[in-house]
Amino acid sequence: MITQPPFDLQSIRQQFPALQLQVNGRTAVYLDGPGGTQVPRQVIDAIAAYLAHGGSNQGGPFFTSQYTDTVIASARQTMMDFYHARRPEEIVFGQNMTSLTFAFSRALAQTWQPGDEIIVTRLDHDANITPWVMAAADRGVTVRWLDFDPADCTLRLDLLPGLLNDKTRLVAVTYASNAVGSITDVERVVKLAHASGALVFVDSVHYGPHGLIDVQALDCDFLAASVYKFFGGHVGVLYGKYELLAELKAYKVRPSSPLPPGKWETGTQSFESLAGVTAAVEYIASLSQGDGNRRERLVQVMSQIRQYEMSLSFHFLEGVTQIPGLRVYGITDVENLAQRTPTFAVSLQGHSPEAVATRLGEQGIFVWHGDYYAVAVMERLGLTDKGGLVRIGFVHYNTHDEVDRVLAALAAMR
Ligand SMILES: Cc1ncc(COP(=O)(O)O)c(C=O)c1O
Repeated sequence: MITQPPFDLQSIRQQFPALQLQVNGRTAVYLDGPGGTQVPRQVIDAIAAYLAHGGSNQGGPFFTSQYTDTVIASARQTMMDFYHARRPEEIVFGQNMTSLTFAFSRALAQTWQPGDEIIVTRLDHDANITPWVMAAADRGVTVRWLDFDPADCTLRLDLLPGLLNDKTRLVAVTYASNAVGSITDVERVVKLAHASGALVFVDSVHYGPHGLIDVQALDCDFLAASVYKFFGGHVGVLYGKYELLAELKAYKVRPSSPLPPGKWETGTQSFESLAGVTAAVEYIASLSQGDGNRRERLVQVMSQIRQYEMSLSFHFLEGVTQIPGLRVYGITDVENLAQRTPTFAVSLQGHSPEAVATRLGEQGIFVWHGDYYAVAVMERLGLTDKGGLVRIGFVHYNTHDEVDRVLAALAAMR
């Protein structure tokens, strides 16, 4: 199943200056998307244009400040479309996902009582575990852990009802694992959690470039992400239900707005990165052949991206079966590709993950090794002392030729 993308991949790749990079005489292969994607020209231009325009801090009665206000408003409106939020005030920007999660964990913890409980999962990046574990420790709250099945690295949602009870205040869950690619049925988690009166905080950082997000359909209470994982600059973004953002107490300095989203946005934002947020989402929408509104184009294109990425997964998984000693952790059944992103954590017998990443790096193939902050995943798989795993991650700008290049490089190490 080598499916050609429903969009013009060559012209897409030309929009990304970084994809032209040569390493040791060969074109670089970026398989490090889960750690941060490359950026198309229109995002680079939007960031530079903000800086060149003449900017100022927000809220002043003069031209450059008003310009900054329009840049922020546009970024908020754009993320509202990207997530299908109800109103722009449900979108909060911040330094990165980790910092936003620390801020919200502190705010939510103020509503907890000793004896309350929260649930975190072993599939999550540590940014959606430790902020909650620390907040729980501050408040005398019990932390319960939802496990994943080490055989295919999917969350044991069958165990969730047994962990939930009327003391559960929060479930923190990943939309997709940044290590092994498994996608969570977030809608099911939300239904179960809400039935017990618990809120749900979703980490959508890894899922963002791979699938459509609809916070109204999910009915999640919070959803946090980072724009550098979906073709933008380094800025974090959080969706929260307006009533919760309004009701919860934020840690903030005195003159800042008492209302959302301002009350959650501490200090001066990265305005140039916010200009890049609008451009990043516009870039994704521009891949659509449809002519609907921005949300409609996003809905269309994200489904095409999923289909194309599944063909990359299929190709990769078929290829790895030909390489003795190569083990893929996570879903390997090609019938279940819809339940994973094209992110593969692998080991190669006889080579440490670091050695594999280094050898690939010498050939201009960029992959991460170690735990990529998925600390609990590596602990559960018993790989912490073995240097973790090699992570090979594809996004829509990757090609089938690049799948072949990494497979050939891995095969040559046998
Ligand atoms: C799944 C996941 N969650 C959270 C984070 C942390 O994001 P940030 O770097 O924006 O704090 C990452 C970063 O790699 C991630 O992959």
